[in-house]
Amino acid sequence: MGVGSGTESLALPITDPALEQRLRSRMAEVEKALYGHVQSRFPFVTKAASHLLDAGGKRFRPLLVLLTAEAGAHADSDDVLTAACIVEITHVGSLYHDDVMDEAELRRGSASANARWDNLVAILTGDLLFAKSSELTAALGPDAVRIQAQTFSRLVEGQILETVTPGPGEDPLEHYLAVVAGKTGSLIATSARYGARFGGSSPEVEEALAAYGEIVGSAFQLSDDILDVASDSDESGKTPGTDLREGVATLPTLMAQTSTDPADARLLELLAGPLTDDELHAEALALLRAHPAMDQARAYVVDRATEAKALLDVLPRGPVRAALESFADVVAVRSA
Ligand code: IPE
Ligand code: IPE
Ligand code: MG
Ligand code: MG
Repeated sequence: MGVGSGTESLALPITDPALEQRLRSRMAEVEKALYGHVQSRFPFVTKAASHLLDAGGKRFRPLLVLLTAEAGAHADSDDVLTAACIVEITHVGSLYHDDVMDEAELRRGSASANARWDNLVAILTGDLLFAKSSELTAALGPDAVRIQAQTFSRLVEGQILETVTPGPGEDPLEHYLAVVAGKTGSLIATSARYGARFGGSSPEVEEALAAYGEIVGSAFQLSDDILDVASDSDESGKTPGTDLREGVATLPTLMAQTSTDPADARLLELLAGPLTDDELHAEALALLRAHPAMDQARAYVVDRATEAKALLDVLPRGPVRAALESFADVVAVRSA
């Protein structure tokens, strides 16, 4: 998947031409609405708030809203469109903040807001986007406001939890999985939930799709963390090795750290210390890329995708279910 704007190529694999056509034209509406929502009467505010929208991104959260909505009778309702905007604006707001946390300079193939301006502008612009998404959520009623607030709490909790190392007696892998479910699984679960709910599906389907979104969303982050080790920046639009440099534990490092093989002594020594020095960072990245933990991590993601697909049994067989199944597959193999 490239870094291009979501309207040229859909971020989810859709094989049914009629469904693809509908989603494309709906995504074009979402895209237009997104830009409308970040307009301010102050030109600098509009510029800062549209910076990461302009930079591109896959837009797969709004697309997931549109796709899951297709399982119900009201896929074309205005509320579905609003929900699609809410999840992308929330996501983009979290990226402004995340790049400050991670001191990242590159986002969606462009300068991050903190690199383009400074941390202050990036944080306040993220806040503005969260305010916009809350305002939009109010139009969907009190239940949506509650869901949105809970989702956002979980997302921020995940981000906070990532800044602390697990205490004695806590399992580092469990800690990491809680971080991932919070910071990424939560919003993707809500994307699927919104699609089901506002597209007119039953509560049973809504719960199953939300559970699917939670697992697929977490698997998506696990894959992304594997790619942070394995990919080049022109593929991802981000600087590879950022997690290692920032000392953020991820699935490959956690799996490598369980090794008792003496051949891994150097890697484990490097992982135990700071990796801000360019040479040490490059050495650790090369050792980790070649380590069997990479394949072990990939296998773990494939298992999660299988688990997610099983939840789709509530849907009748057809193009929507097939697209959701292949999305789980794509998430699993994107880091292969
Ligand atoms: C980036 O999300 C943050 C993660 C959860 C890994 P995406 O990979 O969906 O980013 P964009 O929206 O395409 O830029
Ligand atoms: C992304 O976290 C999660 C959120 C923005 C909430 P990461 O730090 O892992 O994602 P990238 O690698 O910067 O996209
Ligand atoms: Mg980051
Ligand atoms: Mg981060």
